[in-house]
Amino acid sequence: MSEHEFIRIDRLSQRFDLSDPWIARLISRRPKQFLNAVDNVSFNIEKGKTYALVGESGSGKSTIALMAVGLLRPTGGSVLIDGHNLYDRTQSQLEHRRTRRRLQMVFQSPYASLNPRWRVGNILSEPLRVFSLTDSQSAERRRVHELLEQVGLSQSDAHRFPHEFSGGQRQRISIARALASRPEFIVCDEPTSALDVSVQAQVLNLLKRLQNDLGLTYLFITHDLAVVRVMAHRIGVLKSGRLIEEESTQSLIESPQSEYTKMLIRSAPRISRGTTGISFT
Ligand SMILES: Nc1ncnc2c1ncn2[C@@H]1O[C@H](COP(=O)(O)OP(=O)(O)O)[C@@H](O)[C@H]1O
Ligand SMILES: [Mg+2]
Repeated sequence: MSEHEFIRIDRLSQRFDLSDPWIARLISRRPKQFLNAVDNVSFNIEKGKTYALVGESGSGKSTIALMAVGLLRPTGGSVLIDGHNLYDRTQSQLEHRRTRRRLQMVFQSPYASLNPRWRVGNILSEPLRVFSLTDSQSAERRRVHELLEQVGLSQSDAHRFPHEFSGGQRQRISIARALASRPEFIVCDEPTSALDVSVQAQVLNLLKRLQNDLGLTYLFITHDLAVVRVMAHRIGVLKSGRLIEEESTQSLIESPQSEYTKMLIRSAPRISRGTTGISFT
């Protein structure tokens, strides 16, 4: 393992069992049915860098995301976080929790991922309590205020409910919640695909700034190659659960090897025109 490597995904697979319940199969005499949603995928991400996974809908991106942060046990292969095997059954509960704290995820829809009945302050302090990261109510409040400011919101937003915010602000709240446990690695699964282009750029800028300030490592998932171009250091291309191409961002976009990658690039109009619509100020 290289000294700068933070995560190593090694021959990762996920085979979903799509079979009917056994009693139904017994009657219909149909064999078991499986789907290889992720098939033998390997890649590493260096500390402080962004690795983008691109591919069409259904290619296995979100399934890899869930396995990379410890939310879905692989049916094959392994995930090594800074040398710790995330799914090692011999690991103690405590060791597992320690590793899990270092990994967080930001989902596509901040509507679905934020509890609508909780005030923002409560949403942000929950991970602090889960991981026992603050020892008093005042420390908890200070940390919540710090998190809000880190993502460009204000302290008074702690008292409001998710529905009182715009889509972009809501995604900022999701990012603040992901930051609460002071993670080193964040998986962003289509974090801006539900947002308007102008708001997208602001959220991407925020993610970039946080990466610089906090030294974060990202796995960035998207089907939008224009976004990838400004965010990622390396790109992996997924097709039907397999990693078919992997390169530095520039090489992949300038000289894609497979027809599939060429097709993905062609279908990202903002790239072929040479502009991304995203600026960094
Ligand atoms: N829990 C599940 N059970 C069965 N099949 C699933 C499950 N999750 C995803 N799939 C299937 O696995 C494939 C990959 O899905 P996903 O990882 O969500 O793709 P992507 O994020 O690239 O759109 C799809 O065919 C999807 O229908
Ligand atoms: Mg997905």
